[in-house]
Amino acid sequence: MYFDMKALTGEQRSKLVHSTVVPRPIAWVSSCNASGAVNVAPFSFFNVMSGDPPLLCLCIGSRAGEPKDTARNIIDRGEFVVNLVSENMAGRMAITSIDFEAGLNEAQEAELEMLPSQQVAVPRIGSSPCSMECKVRQLIDIDGVRTFVLADIVGVHLCDEAVTDVSKMFIDPLPMALIGRLHSPGWYCKVSADFQLPTPSPLQWQALKDQGQAQDLLSWQAPVQTSSGGQDVERN
Ligand SMILES: Cc1cc2nc3c(=O)[nH]c(=O)nc-3n(C[C@H](O)[C@H](O)[C@H](O)COP(=O)(O)O)c2cc1C
Repeated sequence: MYFDMKALTGEQRSKLVHSTVVPRPIAWVSSCNASGAVNVAPFSFFNVMSGDPPLLCLCIGSRAGEPKDTARNIIDRGEFVVNLVSENMAGRMAITSIDFEAGLNEAQEAELEMLPSQQVAVPRIGSSPCSMECKVRQLIDIDGVRTFVLADIVGVHLCDEAVTDVSKMFIDPLPMALIGRLHSPGWYCKVSADFQLPTPSPLQWQALKDQGQAQDLLSWQAPVQTSSGGQDVERN
């Protein structure tokens, strides 16, 4: 089925995009308004865009024709924290996405312990397995109410369980038990069904073809059994 975006309504376009590009990582953003009040909300139009320089982006939509509090705060203060969401924090994350009136402290509502950050004056969520302190590099005003944020990650708090070998910077994401966003309303997935598929070098690929083994990769299927949990699996 082909969809011409021009032929769809706004809601249809939105449903199509939300339900196809899945799973999406979730940025659980803490931010502060001009007077320092803390705001927490999740955003799944989010990803990292570069490792070095470490960059991430998110896109914050509108509510009733007005920018959301998170967008206002990021524009006002130029800094924020992206906290990643583990399975056991999903319920609290959902609470912080409730359409509360501006100024209500979602962190209190979801009983989140907020801890100080090091390089930004915005607190992080203490129970998040990974919190990224961010400073705005560029803002793109999409249509007066929607904001695209490109930011530098200036510091990362990572739970010790995810650090396999700091000398080699080996990080195992599975202990973080992160969730991803699927389609609406309210569908999520765990990221624990992992499998490994290394990319061959040009020489290895040529060797596979020469040995008549290219088909192994051409028709490769994800295994039914995954290595999830694998404490003894080398992941880096
Ligand atoms: C998992 C999840 C992902 C979301 N992703 C986005 C998003 O990418 N952009 C957006 O504008 N709203 C998103 N929302 C909705 C906001 O979290 C919600 O509007 C929130 O109330 C905004 O809070 P704020 O006004 O305090 O910034 C998402 C909600 C959930 C539950």
